[in-house]
Amino acid sequence: MIGRANGDAAVSITGFGCYVPERVLTNDELARLVDTSDEWIRERTGIRERRIAGPEQALSDLCVPAAEQALEHAGVPARDVELLIVATVTPDMFFPSTGAILADRLGAPDAAAYDLSAGCTGFMYALAQAYGMIAGGLVDRALVVGGDVLSRIMDWTDRSTCVLFGDGAGAVMLERVDAGGFHGFELGADGGGGVHLNMPAGGSRIPATAESIAARQHFARMNGREVFKFATRVLVSSAAAVLEACDTSVDDVDVYIPHQANVRIIDHAAKKLGIPDDRVVINVDRFGNTSSGSIPLGIADAAADGRLRPGKLVLMTGMGAGLTWGSALMEWTAVFDGGGNG
Ligand code: UT7
Repeated sequence: MIGRANGDAAVSITGFGCYVPERVLTNDELARLVDTSDEWIRERTGIRERRIAGPEQALSDLCVPAAEQALEHAGVPARDVELLIVATVTPDMFFPSTGAILADRLGAPDAAAYDLSAGCTGFMYALAQAYGMIAGGLVDRALVVGGDVLSRIMDWTDRSTCVLFGDGAGAVMLERVDAGGFHGFELGADGGGGVHLNMPAGGSRIPATAESIAARQHFARMNGREVFKFATRVLVSSAAAVLEACDTSVDDVDVYIPHQANVRIIDHAAKKLGIPDDRVVINVDRFGNTSSGSIPLGIADAAADGRLRPGKLVLMTGMGAGLTWGSALMEWTAVFDGGGNG
């Protein structure tokens, strides 16, 4: 889908927060687990280190501090939240949803709360849903959370995946504003490519059995080269599509927050789109690929380093399992003094 925002209903991000676990896992530590090296990981991905959740931390434990910060920044009491979406592929459990668990833990009893599964693009899909619910007049305040604990579905004997990912979560508050905010969205999915990035077992196709566990089918699997090709293509095409739909030149983009999977993918997309390096937000070096957490963590970074100021035009593009992709273009409206623990 591609859609331009309703000009009569300005909706924007009015608060944000993020959380990453304290435990830092370095490339050198990984080189003691699998046949890899700090040099290979840095050169091929740009990743220096990533954060790993503690054994007692599930997804909702990462989401609570991120969401509380977003609420505080926005000055919205939790009880006023009417919609709460958690974008993730690693919920606390299949059901109840982490959205429902989070609404309870935050104290948001009136919120419609659920999880959204769109791989690493989940945060972009959730932003578009929340925008639509607010612009359509169904709700006034929506909390959108993106986060994953991918360390729990990593095969720590598979060097082609385990070096790439990390744990983290980010949250944003969406509300009506007088002007600015979201200009448009472009979202898409190619289920035919889903085979290139998946976790085969644990659902209704291959329920958990001793065999599925022995075959290591409860871990994420990826054909890195195929996903790399997909990623370099859609990061460019999706961004170009949303810019065109909004009659906006790429030269007007002040801050570019792409999904953080690999610095080479980000560099390629920025170059193709014609976005200078100083407008590109990078956190994959510190956090690895945090899936649905990567773009909201990028928002926190860009705010912390002073790049996100009212009036700045922000382009965000995600891509990931599905295969899915999604972009949003928005005029930043909020003033912050930084935030997050990342
Ligand atoms: O958010 C979800 C989206 N995920 C992505 O966007 C990931 C997209 N893919 C990628 O970022 C890259 O394809 C990877 C980082 C996964 C791999 O980089 P690459 O440059 O495409 O490497 P490759 O798969 O072509 O492998 C090159 C070599 C292979 O050895 P041979 O066959 O040339 O002998 C691999 O076995 O590198 C080997 N290799 C490793 N070597 C050391 C693969 N993983 C590792 C490793 N350490 N961790």
